[in-house]
Amino acid sequence: MARLLVRDLAQLATPAGRSAPLRGAELGAVDVVEDAFVLCVDGRIEAAGRMRDLPGLEEDVEELDGRGLAAVPGLVDCHTHACFAGDRVEEFSLRAAGASYEELHAAGGGILSTVRATRAAGEGRLRERLRLHAAWMLRAGTTTWEAKSGYGLDRDTELAQLRAIRAEGGIPTWLGAHTVPPEYPDADVYLDFLLAEVLPEAAGLAEAADVFLERGAFDAAQARRYLEACRDAGLALRLHGDQFTESGAIPLAIELGARSVDHLEATGEDGVGALAASGVTGVLLPTSALFLGRPMPPGRALVDAGAAVAVATDFNPGSAFAESLPLALSLAATQLGLGPAEALSAATVNAAHVLGRADRLGRIAPGYAADLVLVDATDWRHLVYHLAGDVIRTVVRGGAIAWSRAAY
Ligand code: NIG
Ligand code: FE
Repeated sequence: MARLLVRDLAQLATPAGRSAPLRGAELGAVDVVEDAFVLCVDGRIEAAGRMRDLPGLEEDVEELDGRGLAAVPGLVDCHTHACFAGDRVEEFSLRAAGASYEELHAAGGGILSTVRATRAAGEGRLRERLRLHAAWMLRAGTTTWEAKSGYGLDRDTELAQLRAIRAEGGIPTWLGAHTVPPEYPDADVYLDFLLAEVLPEAAGLAEAADVFLERGAFDAAQARRYLEACRDAGLALRLHGDQFTESGAIPLAIELGARSVDHLEATGEDGVGALAASGVTGVLLPTSALFLGRPMPPGRALVDAGAAVAVATDFNPGSAFAESLPLALSLAATQLGLGPAEALSAATVNAAHVLGRADRLGRIAPGYAADLVLVDATDWRHLVYHLAGDVIRTVVRGGAIAWSRAAY
């Protein structure tokens, strides 16, 4: 039996509510235990609590000294596009000089430039890049990550992306409907191809399907057609919606019982109210809004209205070249008006809910996966407070130390 005892922690902090997703006041309720331990056995949390209640341990146990550190659940990134080749540093420079993301997209750059690089990379090279990106995410505290396809837009590369994501330990989402590739005359003809030629195999590799519902990509009728077919093939549903314009993503997500609608930078009052009254989680991606210089999504209004929200990175080479969830959480606090406890719940329990895993991920509690972030501070809130700081000392995944750095 593999046993790891994290002992003498200055603090242990975990979302308090038992339900998922957490909403309203429960979103901001975090249990904090001072002078704490976490005992991990065979990849699961066996017990957690105060040092003085630590059970006597007969068998050999590896010990990890938690003095001066605060433990939070391993972070869950429920929205990334981490499986890509190439970069967009040239486009980044053009945007800095005034070009807009949508203009570059319309001119055949943007997403399509990453499609060209990803198609050219081949599956082996693509896996190497994804392994690198996963290593970056891990050292930022992410112990579970979702990643989308959507940079192949042809049969072989879409399926290669989904296989690579699975092979590297991610949770794959099929984003065949990311944008229309140049070899198709229009979105409807491209969707015909996707649903006939790619969906049958994608449904066996992915857990969910996603669509970019936006001007210049897919409209609501096209998104509905794609999502209904994906749902019928057994996939959970997600949408990129309200990034630049309100184009019907929230009503469609609610009608189809989607797990989430993600972005929401353009969502107005009606959308906030509708989402709050629904079972769909709103995924907030403040790093993307920051990176593109766009308005922030109405995070505070959503939480106050009672919506279930998650926070994720949107890590991708174009709109958010930033893999750090702690940075996204700092932005959630400083730009969206979420408190540190709300931000933590949004990137643990609620993100796990979006990925269909809230029964086993996102809490420090018996039976949950032994995934922990040890924050290099005696108050766990430094995870959110220390903007782009070197705030993580150790990451435990599946009951083993997955990444660690020396103390200063
Ligand atoms: O979530 N907006 C659509 N898709 C991604 C960006 C992908 C890219 O620019 O490569 C997003 O922001
Ligand atoms: Fe995205």
